[in-house]
Amino acid sequence: MGFPHKPHERETTVLSQHFGVQEAIGLDGWKKRGGYTALQKALDMTPAEIVDVVKASGLRGRGGAGFPTGIKWSFMKPGDGKPHYLACNADESEPGTFKDREIMRWTPHALVEGCALGAYAIGAEVAYIYIRGEYTEAIDKMRAACKEAYDAGILGTNAMGTGKTVHVYVHKGAGAYICGEETAMMNSLEGKRGNPRIKPPFPAVAGLFGMPTTINNVETLAAVPHIINNGAEWYKTFGRADNPKSTGTKLFSVCGNIQKPGNYEVAMGFPFKDFLYDLCGGPLPGRKFRAIIPGGISVPIQTLEEAENSLMDYEGFVANGTMLGSGGVIVIDDAQNLVKQIARAARFFAHESCAQCTQCREGTAWTTKILERIVAGDGTHEDLDTLLEIADNMTGKTICVLSDSCATPVVSGIQKFRGDFEALIKKKKVHMVPAQVA
Ligand SMILES: Cc1cc2nc3c(=O)[nH]c(=O)nc-3n(C[C@H](O)[C@H](O)[C@H](O)COP(=O)(O)O)c2cc1C
Repeated sequence: MGFPHKPHERETTVLSQHFGVQEAIGLDGWKKRGGYTALQKALDMTPAEIVDVVKASGLRGRGGAGFPTGIKWSFMKPGDGKPHYLACNADESEPGTFKDREIMRWTPHALVEGCALGAYAIGAEVAYIYIRGEYTEAIDKMRAACKEAYDAGILGTNAMGTGKTVHVYVHKGAGAYICGEETAMMNSLEGKRGNPRIKPPFPAVAGLFGMPTTINNVETLAAVPHIINNGAEWYKTFGRADNPKSTGTKLFSVCGNIQKPGNYEVAMGFPFKDFLYDLCGGPLPGRKFRAIIPGGISVPIQTLEEAENSLMDYEGFVANGTMLGSGGVIVIDDAQNLVKQIARAARFFAHESCAQCTQCREGTAWTTKILERIVAGDGTHEDLDTLLEIADNMTGKTICVLSDSCATPVVSGIQKFRGDFEALIKKKKVHMVPAQVA
């Protein structure tokens, strides 16, 4: 275990190695770079052998929840006589997250290969890639890559000449954040409204079209060919020696008040302080970092101290008051109105709620109204208690966790930056006195 390079100084580019290389987008260029060697190798293995390698690698889902991929795959029971499906989640709508987009734009064949390999491993002959509707360039690139793979005999009823069937289809989403939730995504793929389904039954039992289904994120699937080619032990070399629970590399999207926003790939466990100041260039001139959201808007906000103490893996972020989530790093500096940012996040969730659950439909709307009232200078101290009470009613009580996701920045914001809320509330009171006297 340990870093394969001098730590703290640079990225570890596995998935992003060919980002920006025009030639790598097409099939010939991709093959020159080792493309489809993993699929060829995998098709000669049994599905169970592939699942064992992925389990041993420690790969965990990169879509947000961090569930171990090999274990998820092992829930798909071979020989049950039913069609199995793989659904690749490329809906990527979590604010602050734009890493899957780059995988699809620059290395579309990496995802085709990962999907084909994943499908074979779970006993599926069909994989769907559900892509966020606004990602028009990624959709075009993925469709072109699938066509090239079919024309070359990589996909189809005789995949790579092995007599095995592997189909990969691209499905364009229609612009709803909720369709990134895996059960809503399956409904959407079936042509229904994208409402999350109650679990159980879990997708591995009754998923797409009622059949056993595995859902995996783009980054998760794109990592698998590297694991098959280089082995589980190789993958485990990326990560910190004292934390075997987080292995491999991770793409982080960085946006907000920072010198060098963009996508960065680092080994798990990379120090977040070095990431923010060295790799991403630190704060804008004359400004200071104030608050950081490291895993997309659904994870708790960190104070600067928490962020600077974090190591960038699942456990490293949990130890410092937040979660790794989707890896969307949102940087907020001292020139921003933090409460306004939280209100904006709440408005997003209120807009995107599917409205099936009362706690979510009402809670996201009330939360937005109260936060916007505070930002406008019409808040009261009781509003903070009300917000926390609403958040409590929104957490752990709904079909999916969109509701919890709305509550998270609000609760962490009030807990860690209460002074910002109180300042806005007090400002109003001072401002009211002359008006009332008059
Ligand atoms: C509201 C909501 C939105 C989500 N959006 C995405 C998304 O855009 N992409 C994604 O991969 N996972 C998203 N997820 C997580 C998925 O439900 C699922 O856990 C993930 O796709 C599983 O893949 P993984 O195991 O490879 O991470 C979302 C979850 C929720 C509750």
